[in-house]
Amino acid sequence: MRIGIIGAGFIGRAVAQLALAAGHEVMLSNSRGPQTMSSVRSGIAGCEVGNAEEAARFAELALVAIPFAHYHSVPARWLEGKIVMDANNYYPDRDGRFPALDRFETTTTRLLAEHLPGSRVVKVFNAILAQDLEKDARLRGAADRRALPIAGDDGEAKSVVSTLLDDLGYDAVDAGGLDDSWRFERAKPAYCIPFGVEGLKLALAQAEREIEVPEGAWRREATVSGPI
Ligand SMILES: NC(=O)c1ccc[n+]([C@@H]2O[C@H](COP(=O)([O-])OP(=O)(O)OC[C@H]3O[C@@H](n4cnc5c(N)ncnc54)[C@H](OP(=O)(O)O)[C@@H]3O)[C@@H](O)[C@H]2O)c1
Repeated sequence: MRIGIIGAGFIGRAVAQLALAAGHEVMLSNSRGPQTMSSVRSGIAGCEVGNAEEAARFAELALVAIPFAHYHSVPARWLEGKIVMDANNYYPDRDGRFPALDRFETTTTRLLAEHLPGSRVVKVFNAILAQDLEKDARLRGAADRRALPIAGDDGEAKSVVSTLLDDLGYDAVDAGGLDDSWRFERAKPAYCIPFGVEGLKLALAQAEREIEVPEGAWRREATVSGPI
C-alpha cells in the first residue's frame, strides 16, 4: 500500500520505518516542506518526502501524527474517500485547552473525523511510545507479541488497519467506535503500556472516563503486575 504520513516527527518516522520494512511505499511530510527533511532522505532508505497535501494525495492509507492542536490544518479534500489513521494525543500543556475534551464530551479522534467528513478515521498508534514501535514488533504468533488498541466507526476500515498492524508486528484489539477511543487516550490504563491481547482487553475495560491515572502510577503498576 501507499502510506502517506502527515507529520515527520518521532511517531511518523517510526511507523514509516516499520511500513517500509514490511514492503509498503511511504511518503513522510511536515509543515515546513520537503526541503527541511534531508534527515529523512538520508536516514530512512526508500522513504519519499513531500508537503502535507502531497502526502495526502499520495496516500491510499494516511496517518496523521502531528501535535493535536494543528488537526484543523490536515488537508481534508485530498483525504476524501480514504482511510485515515490518527495517532494524535491531547496534551493541554502543548496543545492549549480544548474545553470539550476537558469536559469529556468528545474525543480527539472524533474531532479529527468531524474535520474529515469524507474519510474513514481509525485511532491507532497513539498508545505506544515511538521508541517502542520498532523494539516491540514481533512476528505473528510470537508469545510476547504486543497488542495495540484501535477504534473507529467503520468496520472495513478497522479491518484494513488491523491487517496493517499485523504486517508491522502487532496484534490489534478493537476498542469500539470513535466515541469509545477515550479508553486508550492519555492517562488511561491502556496508554503506552505493553500488553498482549488479553491484558489490553482488561486495561481497556478498566478505564474510567473521568478518572485520569497519574503517569507514575500506571507505569509502576504495569511493571509490577507484568503487563504482557
Ligand atoms: N512521540 C511519541 O512517542 C508518540 C506516541 C504516540 C502518539 N504520539 C502523538 O503523535 C503526534 C506526533 O507526535 P511526535 O512525537 O511524532 O511529534 P513531533 O516529534 O513533535 O513531530 C511532529 C511533526 O508534525 C509536523 N507538523 C506539525 N504541524 C503540522 C501540520 N500542521 N501539518 C503537517 N505537519 C505538521 C512537524 O513538522 P514541522 O516541524 O515542520 O512543523 C513534525 O514533523 C502527537 O499528537 C503525539 O501526542 C506521540
